[in-house]
Amino acid sequence: MAQVKVGIIGGGIVGPVIATLLKQQGYEPIIFERNDSVPEGGIGIGIQTNGLAVLQRIPGLIDTLGGRYLDYFNFYSVLPEDPGLLGALDAPKKRREATGAGTLGVRRSALQHALVAAAARAGVDVRWGHHLTALAQYNGEVVLTFANGARETVAFAVGCDGLHSDTRKALFGEERADYTGLCQIGGYAPMPASFEGKSMAMNVFGDGAHMITVPVGADTVGWAVTTREAEAKETWRAMDAAAADAFKNNSPMAQWGYGAGEIVRNAQTLTKYGLYDRPELPTWHAGRVVLIGDAAHPTSPHLGQGANQAFEDAALLADLLAQHNPPPTASPSLSTPSTPSSPSSAPPPNPPTPTLEAAFAALEGARIPRTAALVKKAREQGETRVVHGVPACLARNQWYRELLGDEAALRARFAPPA
Ligand SMILES: Cc1cc2nc3c(=O)[nH]c(=O)nc-3n(C[C@H](O)[C@H](O)[C@H](O)COP(=O)(O)OP(=O)(O)OC[C@H]3O[C@@H](n4cnc5c(N)ncnc54)[C@H](O)[C@@H]3O)c2cc1C
Ligand SMILES: *[C@@H]1O[C@H](CO)[C@@H](O)[C@H](O)[C@H]1NC(C)=O
Repeated sequence: MAQVKVGIIGGGIVGPVIATLLKQQGYEPIIFERNDSVPEGGIGIGIQTNGLAVLQRIPGLIDTLGGRYLDYFNFYSVLPEDPGLLGALDAPKKRREATGAGTLGVRRSALQHALVAAAARAGVDVRWGHHLTALAQYNGEVVLTFANGARETVAFAVGCDGLHSDTRKALFGEERADYTGLCQIGGYAPMPASFEGKSMAMNVFGDGAHMITVPVGADTVGWAVTTREAEAKETWRAMDAAAADAFKNNSPMAQWGYGAGEIVRNAQTLTKYGLYDRPELPTWHAGRVVLIGDAAHPTSPHLGQGANQAFEDAALLADLLAQHNPPPTASPSLSTPSTPSSPSSAPPPNPPTPTLEAAFAALEGARIPRTAALVKKAREQGETRVVHGVPACLARNQWYRELLGDEAALRARFAPPA
């Protein structure tokens, strides 16, 4: 039986998932990850009902994630002119009870560890230290070249290499990511005693700052404070010790109520990163190479849908490939050779690849409108949360009070797509 090798560029969050789903179908995926190991940077990720539905397709995986299911979502204002509870939801608990899968808070690094381990268990070849530097498409194949000198030929490739995707550059040319004007400082902290062991996520609104906390373990929360700032890089590296200490002890957030200040003062492993997105792409593929996850549609995090939308991409792509281009009859022939390209060169011509073309086009038809709308809504949500001056903050607080009291409006705005 002919083996159909698939190059998966990036072993972050979505790479291991698409690799495992394709391996289940009989393809031979190979993950190429530039890093030598899973970075410990990052904060918490909330895997919502839609994301969990995808991860359930990988047997045993969810049990290895650790983390903690969310029950409550409280919203507080720490504005001195208008302090107090803006609203409290038990929708996550209800959804968990109704569907068996609500929202699971996990450490980003633990999630990546578990996803990569699941891929390896499924028999996926995982190659660390492989930084893609060029890809070329000809003779019905894709030739991948890596910074370490390695080269691999695959039938098709999936770019899962995140916000600064080199695969995207190779397909569509260089283009800067858009800084949203907002940046975050975040980390982990012991769960405040005032949470009384409740599995509660929290939104806290101040003047010019917003904080979110999510439980990621029995007694640990992940948290992030969003402020408006001149451009900050997106490196996911730990903050230097002096800056971290200044934030923990001297920032206004250190004095916030409702457990927020306690979280800031007791914070561990602080990271500072800018929030970026990109404009909608008209297409996610060229020839035999397609993008998914942040490589295709990076988003600001305010709807918590970055990873969840990436998982949806992976599930649909796997289904569409099974339908249109199943192995081992895959490896459709390519008639026209295309010019080799490097990440900095112009887009390659798009040669006809009927079965892959059908799968990739169907993916785009379903996913581009959905993800583009969510990227826009996430940006708007950031603008709504972080406002400056008392009048604007009072108006924002009132807006949240009304929204949180109106279940239908809330569902329309925040409920994860089914
Ligand atoms: C270290 C790190 C920490 C993060 N922490 C958080 C967080 O705490 N909260 C949050 O909401 N989001 C976080 N994110 C972003 C989040 O993971 C994504 O928004 C989302 O989950 C979609 O995942 P993805 O797999 O598309 O992209 P990513 O998770 O960014 O994964 C991309 C992967 O591709 C690899 N890669 C990049 N270029 C190449 C190349 N040329 N060749 C080979 N491999 C390459 C990267 O090393 C990375 O492993 C983090 C991202 C990173 C990289
Ligand atoms: C991952 O790779 C990037 C780019 O080469 C590098 O900046 C980062 O430090 C690496 N992280 C780890 C943990 O290896």
